[in-house]
Amino acid sequence: MPKQTLFKAIEEHGDAQALILTNCTYDGLRYDLPPIIQAAHAKGMKVIIDEAWYGFARFHPAFRPTALEAGADYATQSTHKVMSAFSQSSMIHVNDPDFNEHLFREIFNMHTSTSPQYSMIASLDVARKQIVLEGYKLLSRTLELAKELRAQINSTGAFRVLELSDLLPDEIKQDNVQLDPTKVTVDISRCGFTIEELIHELFERFNIQVEKSTFNTLTLLLTIGTTRSKVSRLYDAMMRIARENRAPQRLYQTAEIPRFTELKYLPRDAFYCGGELMPLLDEQDKVNSNLNGRVSADQITPYPPGIPVLVPGQMITQGITQYLISMLRSQKRIEVHGIVYDGYLPCLRLLTTAEEKSLTKLDKL
Ligand SMILES: Cc1ncc(COP(=O)(O)O)c(C=O)c1O
Repeated sequence: MPKQTLFKAIEEHGDAQALILTNCTYDGLRYDLPPIIQAAHAKGMKVIIDEAWYGFARFHPAFRPTALEAGADYATQSTHKVMSAFSQSSMIHVNDPDFNEHLFREIFNMHTSTSPQYSMIASLDVARKQIVLEGYKLLSRTLELAKELRAQINSTGAFRVLELSDLLPDEIKQDNVQLDPTKVTVDISRCGFTIEELIHELFERFNIQVEKSTFNTLTLLLTIGTTRSKVSRLYDAMMRIARENRAPQRLYQTAEIPRFTELKYLPRDAFYCGGELMPLLDEQDKVNSNLNGRVSADQITPYPPGIPVLVPGQMITQGITQYLISMLRSQKRIEVHGIVYDGYLPCLRLLTTAEEKSLTKLDKL
């Protein structure tokens, strides 16, 4: 998000309680956090940074400043993603001068189990100890391997690693955004495979699982667990694929995520309505136009990218229905959370006319 957009939003919504940003992103883009945090603090907002992919950053100067070092009040880290804790084990780091520990614990206890999993807690402690004692050495190795891998991938001729300037849209070019070099995004458009074919090839022939892709890129993450032999295996696979010398194929861009429409009712009110089901497709297998203008009772989120296309209380448009259908028909493995299946028929849960009448519209609240 452009810095100016953030500054403008902070200025225009001075009554907001918190600013929440992801830093760094899955593809390694890092905001220039200090001025953004300062602007939010000047308006009395707390700053919460989602550092899911950046928990290791404190332990090597190449990755600093971390969110807390930049002044954020809270940082959430998926310790299991990029360090060595068990799956689901994560941390919330607190730097808020107004932190109310009692309130925090009460709210935490409302949402958590009364049966702690001590193996997960112990794994967090092991991950902490490892990164404190060996983090610098391990991260130096990871950085070295990332540098080598970037050069190796470019040497294949068929694949190209995207640099920061390739990744940044024009409106963000002046924002002092940086790239975490351990996240490597590769342009595959000249390799002669579609992304689906390439993912299949890497998995079936080379036993390599790709985690993130777009229609013309794949993103590789190197972590403290990456070894030279793993990097060599990947390079070897890409080199073999490149040597097949296939003619580039035409790649089809996946549909753009539709923009937010209108929030008619509070999400909580809409979610707790019983609602009614309506199919996404009509009898001719076309976009069901009866959905236009209706209000969703559920949150509908395609994974990937994991960005909600509808939230409860939001108005549905033809563009949204079209997008959801294209996701369901896509060749890629996309799960669409929130869709209700009536037998084999994908449906949305909508507010009934009577329910809409019984709720207070947001613009009247
Ligand atoms: C940016 C971001 N934040 C948070 C999460 C969820 O984190 P966790 O797995 O620790 O619940 C993810 C998971 O992929 C993520 O990508």
